[in-house]
Amino acid sequence: MPIIDFEGNVLICKKGANLRQVLLENEKSPHNGNSRLLNCFGLGTCGTCAVQIIGSVSKMEASEKIRLSLPPHNLETGLRLSCQIKVLSDITVKKGSGFS
Ligand code: FES
Repeated sequence: MPIIDFEGNVLICKKGANLRQVLLENEKSPHNGNSRLLNCFGLGTCGTCAVQIIGSVSKMEASEKIRLSLPPHNLETGLRLSCQIKVLSDITVKKGSGFS
């Protein structure tokens, strides 16, 4: 069972679990501010669930790549959309500030 370190909180999930779902089920959020309410609810279109990941997760699919190539994102930042990630091993998740 992978262990997720999210802002100092230790969460345990099943291998392959959706990262955003795991965070929300544990009363944590990959969203900041009003985007906690105003988001696409995991469809991968709003970009507000972007996080930095250290560790092994599922590869980036085309739809996630397209969203992260659009403002305010930039693929070069290395951020990932937590709603599109399957957790494959122990990971550390960091959330930046701001809407995205
Ligand atoms: S919740 Fe909208 S992109 Fe992830």
